[in-house]
Parts: sequence; C-alpha cells; structure tokens
Amino acid sequence: MFPQTVFPDTALVDPHGQLVIGGCNTLELAEEYGTPVYILDEATLRARCRSFLQEFQQRYSATTVDYAAKAYINPALARIFQEEGLGLDVVSGGELAIAQSVGFPLEKVTFHGNNKSREELAQAVEHGVGIVAVDSFYELDLLDRIAADARKVQEILIRVSPGVDPHTHVHTTTGILDTKFGFSIQTGHAAEAVRRAVAASNLKLLGLHFHLGSPIFELEPYRLAIDLVLRFAAGLREEGLELEMFSPGGGFAIAYTRDEEPPAIGDYAEAIVSTMTSTCDELGMAQPRLIIEPGRSIIGPAGVALYRIGAIKDIPGVRKYVSVDGGMGDNIRPALYQAVYEVVPAGKMDQDPTEKVTIAGKYCESGDLLASDIMLPEMEAGDVLAIPAVGAYCPSMASNYNLNPRPPIVLVNNGQSRLIRRRESYQDMMLCDVV
Ligand code: LLP
Repeated sequence: MFPQTVFPDTALVDPHGQLVIGGCNTLELAEEYGTPVYILDEATLRARCRSFLQEFQQRYSATTVDYAAKAYINPALARIFQEEGLGLDVVSGGELAIAQSVGFPLEKVTFHGNNKSREELAQAVEHGVGIVAVDSFYELDLLDRIAADARKVQEILIRVSPGVDPHTHVHTTTGILDTKFGFSIQTGHAAEAVRRAVAASNLKLLGLHFHLGSPIFELEPYRLAIDLVLRFAAGLREEGLELEMFSPGGGFAIAYTRDEEPPAIGDYAEAIVSTMTSTCDELGMAQPRLIIEPGRSIIGPAGVALYRIGAIKDIPGVRKYVSVDGGMGDNIRPALYQAVYEVVPAGKMDQDPTEKVTIAGKYCESGDLLASDIMLPEMEAGDVLAIPAVGAYCPSMASNYNLNPRPPIVLVNNGQSRLIRRRESYQDMMLCDVV
C-alpha cells in the first residue's frame, strides 16, 4: 500500500506502478539527473508556507512566519520563501549570505545561534538584519559594542530557556535547564539578561524568544512554556521589559512513517495563539507580535530522495543487505538520531512486498544504514528506491564523507523539473585544497 501521508501532495502511482511527483515520473528523473538525487515538490513547499500563514493569521493577524533556514536553504528556495511572504531565521553568516545573495529583505531576518562570532554579528549589524536573538551575556556585550561602533541601535530578542521538556530526541532538545541554548529562567540568568539588555545603550529589546526542540509531537509543551515565559515577562515589566514581540520558535512535527500522526498546522496554531492571548489577557499585558519559525514542517514533506540499487548481499538466516548509491553523506539522520523512514520501490509500486531487507548506504561505516528490516518486493541491481520526508535536515546536513559528491536538488512542478543545485564534481570537492 502506498503511504501517501508521508509523500508530497502531488505524489501518485501511475498505471505502470511507477511513482510520480509533481507530474514527473521518478524513474525518468533518476535517469535524467542521475542518483542519488533529491526531488522537491514546489506545490507542497508553497502550500505549506501558505498554510502556516493562513492557520496562524486567521487566528492572530499579528503573526510573522520565519522559515528556519537550517532545515535547508539555497538561493532559489530563498526566492520562493520571499515570494510567499515569509521571513527567515538564520543561524550563521553563511545562511545570511544566501539571503543577501538574492536580495532577501534583511529586515525580515532573525539571527539565531548560541555562539555567533564577532564577524557574523558585524555582518548582521552592518547589513541591517532585523532582529538578533541574543543567547549569552558574552553576545549581549559584544553586540552592544559592535552596534555602538557602527552608530546603530540593533533590535534584539532575548532567548530564554523555560525548562520545559518537549519529549523528543535528546540531541534536539533545547529548552531544558541543561542546554547550551539561551538564558535559563530557573537560574535567574534570563532576568539578569533582560535587565542588561534594557540598560544597553545600542540595543533595543523587543521581547523574548524560546525554542523547545524538534520535532515536537505534543501540544502541551508549547502551552506550558508559553504560559511560563509570559508570566516571567510580566514579572519584569517594572524593570522595563515591554513585550512587543514573542516567539515560541519552531519544532512542528511531520510524519516520517505511515503510522505517525503529528498534530495539524492548525492544531499548533490553535494551541499557541489561544495560550498566548488568554495568558496575556489574564496578566493585563498588551498582545505582542507573534513570530513562529517552522523549518522541518515546511520543507520536510516536500522532499523525496531517489537512489539506485547496486550490490545485494544475502546472509542466509541473518539479513539481506540492499546497497544504494547514497547513504549517510546525504542523510545522516538514521545514524545520528535513529530516525526511521519509509522506503518504496519507485518502479514497482504495484508489487506486493515479499521480503525483509535492510537498506545500506555506500559509505565505509557499518552504521551507514538508511532503513533496517523493511518489507519490499524482490529488488535487483538498477532498481530505484524512493525515501520520502527528506526535505529537511538531509541536504542541509549532507557531507563529503569518503569524498562522495553531494547530490543535486531538483524542483518539480506541473510536469516540469528544474535543477536548483547541480551535483558536486570531484573538482568542486578540491576547490579549497592547496597543494
Ligand atoms: N527556531 C530555532 C531557534 C531552532 O533552533 C530551530 C531548530 C527551529 C526554529 C526550527 O525547527 P523545526 O521547525 O525545523 O523543527 N537536525 C535536527 C533538527 C535540529 C533543529 C535545530 N533547531 C534533525 O534532523 O531532526
């Protein structure tokens, strides 16, 4: 059975049992662009941008949606997000440079990160980045000095850590006490940061930010943390904190497997907006502008990776390894987070699964497995496998491990395909080497 819920909106199986995305046959895409290749469905990508804007703004019109660029960004995609009316959340000078390269309006950019460098902060101040989310006392002082040197006043948010566990992978949990991110409310550091920010002559404190982790399948952590952070803010009114802006970050979950059912975008919107507005009312606070920062939930479902099968190794009574031409270099998530993906046979979608196999990558590590013990029809060398829900944090975390070139990215829409990143060459990989 075709697990439609984990594929892009336009995915379908044609009468020959072949997988089609954005009106393009995936076997033909694999032929034309080579494998491995990442396919992004433009219709799904744009629809998800629009859903976020709509679901939040119909409940609370003063909402800004910033796309979290770390999920994946390149110049072509930055243009699409700009066209759709989104802002950007960046976490490095490199992501900021992508925004600059296409003339993305920098006043719609928020700069995050727990250890931004002096150069990165100067780049942000100089080019007019809208908001810097300040994460440490070190950064608070550094940014104030940089802004003073540039004779500017930089608008900032203070990133707090509310001490709420979102029940996700420990590597992607960010809002608890024991985390490198943000100022803890519990330890008093957050209150001290607000006082120092109010006193800083070249910073203008607009409000507070937190981000609990990712992906978050529950609504309760958002409700709890929003309530807690707003109460914290109310306690600092006398000290000069006027909450003009408020951000509960991103972290919205997507379905990776057929049996996962994350909340709908509207469910997250309802939980966030209703908690924020009712708590502000109760505390007698003016309603702030709301900023949300979805990354995974915008680009994740739009992406499908295509691989071609090569070697097959059957160890009788133990395991059958089916090896593909990509692996941990283009998708590190199974190795890093034990992430589980669906895998489908792009050219044999009408055949029943008959055997249990493990999908191995081509990298020199035993842990380079894309999926373990999954059911597929009988596969042979040359067949194409498709892995859905890979749009977020796969291309962006890709590496040149074993000096394999990183795959190309192809945008599909209405039967047309367009390369938005070409495959790396061996020359590309040696560009920075000095002999
Ligand atoms: N805002 C802030 C401040 C963040 O740190 C993040 C993600 C986001 C927004 C976007 O979260 P999203 O909506 O994409 O879940 N590499 C991991 C995910 C790391 C997320 C880091 N921060 C993974 O592959 O699951």
